[in-house]
Amino acid sequence: MSNPPYYLLAPGPVSIPKSILDTLSLPMIHHRTPEFTNILLRVLTRLKPLFQTQNPVLLLPTTGSGAMEAALVNSLSPGDEILIIQAGKFGERWTQIAQAYGITPHIIDIKWGEKASKSLVETQLKKHPNIKALCIQACETSTAVDHPIKDICEIFKNDSQKIIIVDAITALVYQNIPMDKWGIDILLGGSQKAFMLPTGLSLISLSQKAWSFYASAKCPRFYLDLKKELNANKKGQTFFSSLVTHIRSLDAVLNFFDDQGLEFIQKKALNIQQAINLSAKELGLNIFSTSTTVTAIEFPESIKASVLQKKLITQYNITVAGGQEHLKDRIIRLSHMGDISKLAIEAFFIALIIELQKLDFNITSEQNDNVKKIINDCMSTTNA
Ligand SMILES: Cc1ncc(COP(=O)(O)O)c(C=O)c1O
Repeated sequence: MSNPPYYLLAPGPVSIPKSILDTLSLPMIHHRTPEFTNILLRVLTRLKPLFQTQNPVLLLPTTGSGAMEAALVNSLSPGDEILIIQAGKFGERWTQIAQAYGITPHIIDIKWGEKASKSLVETQLKKHPNIKALCIQACETSTAVDHPIKDICEIFKNDSQKIIIVDAITALVYQNIPMDKWGIDILLGGSQKAFMLPTGLSLISLSQKAWSFYASAKCPRFYLDLKKELNANKKGQTFFSSLVTHIRSLDAVLNFFDDQGLEFIQKKALNIQQAINLSAKELGLNIFSTSTTVTAIEFPESIKASVLQKKLITQYNITVAGGQEHLKDRIIRLSHMGDISKLAIEAFFIALIIELQKLDFNITSEQNDNVKKIINDCMSTTNA
């Protein structure tokens, strides 16, 4: 018997469309060649409108966490004070990086599943007037929460002494984040989310204000020195050996975005979000939280979400993400990003219903039929 099809529904890495997979398997070319220089320069130019910035966008041969580290070490010095929105696993990562470099973090601890607010940030800035940067996620993937970036940016826009650093690794493309207009100083992305590539390439852009912070930043840096990368890019190169396969495929991803249109891609994610949210509610399940790109479904105490997650992969070939830390047995998280078909969402809910029924969770045939109808109604207009 052949294996059932594989459905990847985790919020990164995400399912990759066939046209991009084809580009990923093209023969290798060397990075110091006119052919690669053309691709690199084209990709760097095409990323600016996506970041909605006039400033350069740089590509780093690191996962998303490398771009987070680059943001801090290129703008700050040991002993500097920063403010961190800690509303989940990735907020905590800011704190861990800051501590590794002797930067002093002041933490705004937010209950997992809840959002930051402009007033919370203002209150902390009053308490700690020397703060030089705010670090935040546009989407905190571990809890499926979008923070109100536009509102919070207003605090920083006209303050030349403070910058705002936004991790948009799970937000770019799907959320509209106009970097220059909102006054974001450092904006980050990662290849394995909206860019639908394998993990390993990160994206970062700095405002003029952030580049002026670079000039006085004393954190040690070598591999992540962004000026070196910027200068190499001016010569049509990357500073270290280039991620040829990722960067060439990113060009194909940008073609894919152009062909489909960002509006369509965002609408598709919204339809997936609705299909997941309404179907889960139809089954009597609670939505822990839902963001533009991820939904976290919460299970009653009697059901261990981590066991359910394992069953989905071992018995149905469906990968979803589990909850982290205290949410491990409470939630599973589903992506709205990537190449997700109606069939994939149907397969997930069919498997979920079978497993819930085995656990004596009562689901009527009417609920079953309603879920099918909900998925069909929500997703048929944007199903690939
Ligand atoms: C919002 C956010 N920030 C940072 C990261 C870390 O990225 P990476 O695992 O690629 O280092 C992730 C990864 O899932 C993320 O979702």
